[in-house]
Amino acid sequence: MAEIYLARQKTELGPARRCVVKQILPELASDPAFSEMLVHEAKLAGRLSHANVVQVFDLGREGGRLFIAMEYVEGFDVNDLLRRCSRAKVPFPFELGVHVVGEALKGLDYAHRRTDDRGRSLGLVHRDVSPSNLLVSFEGEVKVCDFGIARANDVITDAAAGSAAHELGEALKGKAGYMSPEHARGEAIDARADVFAAGIVLWELAAGRRLYKTGEGRPSLLELARSADVPELPRKGLPAEDKLRSVIARALAPSRDARYPSAAAMQRDLDAYAASAKMMTSPLALGDWLKSTFGEDILDRRRARERATEALEMGAPLVVQAIAPGAQPAPPAVGPAAGVALTSPGAPSGRKRAALAVAPKRAIATAVVALVVLAAAILAVVLSGALRP
Ligand SMILES: Nc1ncnc2c1ncn2[C@@H]1O[C@H](COP(=O)(O)OP(=O)(O)O)[C@@H](O)[C@H]1O
Ligand SMILES: [Mg+2]
Repeated sequence: MAEIYLARQKTELGPARRCVVKQILPELASDPAFSEMLVHEAKLAGRLSHANVVQVFDLGREGGRLFIAMEYVEGFDVNDLLRRCSRAKVPFPFELGVHVVGEALKGLDYAHRRTDDRGRSLGLVHRDVSPSNLLVSFEGEVKVCDFGIARANDVITDAAAGSAAHELGEALKGKAGYMSPEHARGEAIDARADVFAAGIVLWELAAGRRLYKTGEGRPSLLELARSADVPELPRKGLPAEDKLRSVIARALAPSRDARYPSAAAMQRDLDAYAASAKMMTSPLALGDWLKSTFGEDILDRRRARERATEALEMGAPLVVQAIAPGAQPAPPAVGPAAGVALTSPGAPSGRKRAALAVAPKRAIATAVVALVVLAAAILAVVLSGALRP
């Protein structure tokens, strides 16, 4: 649905802050019904201000394309983190997983309860709580991203019959792995759908595998989600496992009346579980674990980013330079600033792409100057030939 860039936002007095710019694909942004809804939802998300929700700074249109600017969370999304853990053969400590889910629930609960200036509920439901939308920073913060625009996903899925929309629809069906049964059946949903999704994330962190298994001859993810066919949590010898099971069972109750009525209710029980299991977690512990486990990766990313920033500031005359092995060059970024592409459009969330795009305006100006000089040189040669006796 979008391209994600790491960008720098300049201020009048000079110092720039880093931010993330999410640029909606042109074929979607040009659909008036879609963009109207997206703008509406993004405006609601812009009202959210909470430590566990990615802060939206700005919403705008540049060159006919919609963009959302938001705070940059330097770290990993949970999907990416788990993939790195399995590659490095390092298990993600379950107590940190409990901490991540607990913090995400605080952000979700805040958003669910948010009201407008007159005290009326905004009726916000995330609709796409999944590991790739939970960000953990190297400082140990946990933030829910992609808030408020997930309704757009449903519209794309519904309309996903032809061409580009079809590809997007296919990518979005993958998200069914975290859908509540009522959402998968296309019914109206409320905050309890997000509780169900958080329950799946918790189940997967406890089990160390995906909840729903698909493949040849098996029902599709969407079918599994519709029937909420939740397998039993494998016994892993986790502390106070029975208590954990009862939290997960209540979060994953197929009937939403039997489910936790709110994210806060689930968070309270999860807290009580962590206390009874003597889990000592904190943002500091999460940040320390990330830094000690992935210190090298963190340094590599920072270096790549510094190089990208330096090149941007020098106004590099050429258009694209790859900065990661195997990275594909990104198209020059349009929008409020050029930036480093974090993901490719339509790619499964979390698939990172690092490439440097220089400010297009400067590149165009350089090209124009070069053309003028070339034209003048050709003219001079032609004229000198014509004037020669
Ligand atoms: N504010 C942010 N800070 C850091 N990384 C981000 C941020 N927003 C998104 N990302 C990264 O980009 C990925 C895709 O972004 P997201 O907003 O979830 O778009 P999509 O609509 O493709 O799911 C996320 O899974 C995360 O890895
Ligand atoms: Mg996402």
